[in-house]
Amino acid sequence: MKKYYLTTPIYYVNDAPHIGHAYTSLACDVLARFKRLDGFDVMFLTGTDEHGQKVAKSAAAAGIDPQTFTDKVSQNFRNLAATLKISNDDFIRTTEERHKKACQALWNELLKRGEIYLDKYAGWYAVRDEAYYGEDELKDGPNGKKIAPSGAECEWVEEPSYFFKLSAWGDRLLKFYDDNPDFILPHTRRNEVTSFVKSGMRDLSVSRTAITWGVPVPNEPKHVMYVWLDALTNYLTAIGYPDTNAGSFKKYWPADLHMVGKDILRFHAVYWPAFLMAAGLEVPKRVFAHGWWTNEGQKISKSLGNVIDPYELITTYGLDPTRYFLMREVPFGNDGDFARDAMIRRINSDLANGIGNLAQRTLSQIAKNCGGKVPTPGAFTDTDKALLSMAEALLPQLRALMDVQSFSKSLDAIWSVIGEADRYVDEQAPWALKKTDIARMETVLYVLAETLRNLGLFLQPFMPDSANGLLDQLGVATDDRTFANVGTAHALEAGAALPAPQGLFPRYVEPAA
Ligand code: MSP
Repeated sequence: MKKYYLTTPIYYVNDAPHIGHAYTSLACDVLARFKRLDGFDVMFLTGTDEHGQKVAKSAAAAGIDPQTFTDKVSQNFRNLAATLKISNDDFIRTTEERHKKACQALWNELLKRGEIYLDKYAGWYAVRDEAYYGEDELKDGPNGKKIAPSGAECEWVEEPSYFFKLSAWGDRLLKFYDDNPDFILPHTRRNEVTSFVKSGMRDLSVSRTAITWGVPVPNEPKHVMYVWLDALTNYLTAIGYPDTNAGSFKKYWPADLHMVGKDILRFHAVYWPAFLMAAGLEVPKRVFAHGWWTNEGQKISKSLGNVIDPYELITTYGLDPTRYFLMREVPFGNDGDFARDAMIRRINSDLANGIGNLAQRTLSQIAKNCGGKVPTPGAFTDTDKALLSMAEALLPQLRALMDVQSFSKSLDAIWSVIGEADRYVDEQAPWALKKTDIARMETVLYVLAETLRNLGLFLQPFMPDSANGLLDQLGVATDDRTFANVGTAHALEAGAALPAPQGLFPRYVEPAA
C-alpha cells in the first residue's frame, strides 16, 4: 500500500487558535482525506509547540506554571481540530516524554557526528519568532529597538550556547534544492530560500542557558534545546524516532509533506534538512509554504483587534461552507483576503445555486417521477456519455492537482463538471420528458444521479458532512465511497430505493437585526 505522511506545523500555545491555524490544518485535512480515499496509508500529524521563551512568557503573564498553562492551551487546539473535523491520526505535544526522548537522541546523534560544538552566543534574538537574526537583517525601530524582517522586536542575547555547524551545509543544501526541484512549493518561494543559503550562513545556536523551559540538553544541566530544534523534531517523534527500525518509522519516513505558512519556511526548508542530513536521516519530500490571510484588506493583528476566530466563522456560516471558502477563494500559496461579501457570494452561488440546486432538482424529480427509486436508464446518447466521462475524468485531474496542493484548482475542476451538468439538465429538460418520453426521462435522471454520485465522492475531502449527506441520499453504501468506486463500472443500481431528498447546501440568509 502506498503511504503518505503529512504534517501541520505544531502550534505555539501562547495564544488562542485563529484563522491561520485553522487554515493550515484544514488544507492538510483535505489532502489527508483525499489520499485515504485514493487508497493511501495516510499518517496525518498535528499538535502543539509548547517550549521556549515565548510560551514561558505567556505562562508567566497568566500567573501559572508553564506545564499547567500548556496543558490548558494545548487542549484549545485539540478542540479546534475536533470542531473543524480534522482527521489527524496523532496529536503531538512537545512536553510529552516520547518527544523529550526523541530530541535527546537526535542531539546525541548530532554530537556524535561532530555537528554540534560548545561556544558562546552574542547576538540578536526575537522572542516572537523564536529566531536569531544577523545585524544586517535588522532595521532600526522606535526607541532604539532593533526590528526583524517579520516586524518582531529583537533583544541582545549573550550566553553560553551549543552551535550546530550550519555553515558547513550550504553547498549540500543548494545541491539538494537543485536535485529536488519540487522540494519547495510554490516555486515562487524557492528564491528566497536559495538566496538566504547563498548569502553564507552562520552556525546556528541550538541551546539556551538564559531560559529553563525546554528539553534539557543531555549531560548539560544548564542548557535547554533551542525551541526550533525541539519543535522540528516532532515530525520524527510521532513515528517512533529514535527507533528507526520500528515499523512506523520505516513505513512513514521521509515525510511526504510539511505544510507551513510562508513565515516559517526558512526553518523547514533550510534548518530542518540540514539537521536531518547531519544526523544521517532522509530529507522530507516537500515543504509547501502557503500564504497569509488578511481581514477585509487589513493585516490581521491582535493590536488591531481584527483577529478572525474560526469558531465564529463556523457558527455564522457552517463548517462545510467555511472549509469550502478557505480552500476555494485563493489559489493555495497566495495571500488571500477574507471578506464577508465574498464568503456569502461563494455560499449562495457556488454551493446553494451550484451543487445544491443540481442535487435538489435531480433528487426531487427522482422522488416525484421515478417512485423514489434509482431510475432505469436506456441506451446512453453521446451527450449522456460525454457528461458521465467528464465526471469520471475528474479523478486523474484531481490526483495531479492535489499532488501539487492546488486545492482551489481542484475545486474549479469539480465546478466545471457541475456547470456542465447544469447545462445538461437545461437542455434535456427531464420535466418536459415526463409528458412525452418517460424512458428518456429516466435515462436523463439516471445520468444526473450518476454524475452526482461521482461529484459526491470527490467533494468528501473538502466538505465531508455535506458530501456524505449527498451520497446518503443517492443510497451509496459507506463502503462504496472511496475513489475505487469512481466511474461507470461502479454505477448506481437501477431500482434501488432512495431516502426522501433533503436540502444540503442552504443559502446564507442574513439574520434579522
Ligand atoms: N510553533 C511554530 C511552528 C513549529 S513547526 C515545527 C509556529 N507556530 S504558530 O502557532 O505561530 O504557527 C501558526 C501557523 O499559522 C503558521 O504556519 C503561520 O504561517 C500560520 N498563520 C499565522 N497567521 C496567519 C494568517 N493570518 N494567515 C494564514 N496563516 C497564518 O510558527
